[in-house]
Amino acid sequence: MLKRFSISLEEDLLAGFDDYIVRHGYSNRSEAVRDLIRKVLVKDEWADDSEVVGVVTMVYDHHKSQLQERITELQHDFYELITSTTHIHMDHHNCLEVTIVKGKASQVQDLAGRLIALRGVKDGSLTMSSTGGHLG
Ligand code: NI
Repeated sequence: MLKRFSISLEEDLLAGFDDYIVRHGYSNRSEAVRDLIRKVLVKDEWADDSEVVGVVTMVYDHHKSQLQERITELQHDFYELITSTTHIHMDHHNCLEVTIVKGKASQVQDLAGRLIALRGVKDGSLTMSSTGGHLG
């Protein structure tokens, strides 16, 4: 059920927000505000070390010595957090590996940090999401 509330904003702040809405392709202010609120709530859950879900994305060269083994080793060390892993061979050298993780925020961040920091990982990121009931 949708509830309505009104917000008072300085003119400049509102102009900046309207500009943001256009640049991000929102159809109206309500949709943009909803997304922003969800983002803040997810961030809050991560800060509270709640049970969360996330996606670790890595791009690396599989020819890099020992890298594939180190990734597998880390994934086994944290096997309880890992829901699934998808590996895509991008070209002759490069692999894209996406790992879906679920667990306490601090543990998930620990695993993601270790994977991304491995020598030879060219690009890595953790997308933080949440299983929180408030996101309905
Ligand atoms: Ni590959």
